[in-house]
Amino acid sequence: MRVVNIIEGLQAELSALKAQGKTVGLVPTMGALHAGHASLVKRSVAENDVTVVSVFVNPTQFNDKIDLIKYPRTLDADCKLLEANGASFVFAPSVEEIYPQEDTRQFSFAPLDTVMEGAFRPGHFNGVCQIVSRLFDVVQPHKAYFGEKDFQQLAIIREMVRQLHYNVEIVGCPILREEDGLALSSRNARLSASERENALKISQVLFKSRTFAATHSVSETQQFVEDAITVQPGLRLEYFEIVDGNTLQRVGYWEETPYVVGCITVFCGEVRLIDNIKYKEL
Ligand code: PAF
Repeated sequence: MRVVNIIEGLQAELSALKAQGKTVGLVPTMGALHAGHASLVKRSVAENDVTVVSVFVNPTQFNDKIDLIKYPRTLDADCKLLEANGASFVFAPSVEEIYPQEDTRQFSFAPLDTVMEGAFRPGHFNGVCQIVSRLFDVVQPHKAYFGEKDFQQLAIIREMVRQLHYNVEIVGCPILREEDGLALSSRNARLSASERENALKISQVLFKSRTFAATHSVSETQQFVEDAITVQPGLRLEYFEIVDGNTLQRVGYWEETPYVVGCITVFCGEVRLIDNIKYKEL
């Protein structure tokens, strides 16, 4: 495995490999890697000759500067995990390397990016599209891997690829959970033991709501989740929305669409956690 910090260096290595007919998979990350990331890397390693993992805490997607400062940076540990999982290259550029001048590009994929995270984190998805498009331009991968935990992000990246005609296949990978159900997240490292206990309720409520949904309406299920989270000490619900998995617009009835997902964001102390659950799948 090679660790590369410079775009030109990475491109030279990749051009040589592509010239030999090798396929390239890209796994974009912000580091602080865990088993969820490892599952993306394993999938890319299984499906491509070469796997590039980018490790870059992208400042343009943080609308909260404190969050950016507190974001864990663990490159040495990340490299160990990546080597163990068969990555070929770690691309760990500086901010100046990625953004030699301010990136003023504006991406708009409304209405996908105006709801949920888009409403609560203005500018977040613009920053995500800036970095992901930059990585696609630099690496020009055959496939790129993203986790379904960031459900809205995945939908927006698919739309960006469609609208901007990127020649890359987007592969969505299932959420990985701890044995007790908590969705894996780099932010979990910031939870105290008692916050970790509280956070567990998020997935527990979502799982219960799937059973509840089988015999109740969309609005009753919505209320069920909102009430169950709101009564939990230490949790503050930011939003829970039951949406069409493709358009991300709210659904009124289960029969309305074949793909229905519940997306939730909850503050656990100061840590903002997201999760989602599929009620109906294509
Ligand atoms: O999901 C993430 O970790 C980030 O949003 C991504 C896709 C690596 C872009 O910085």
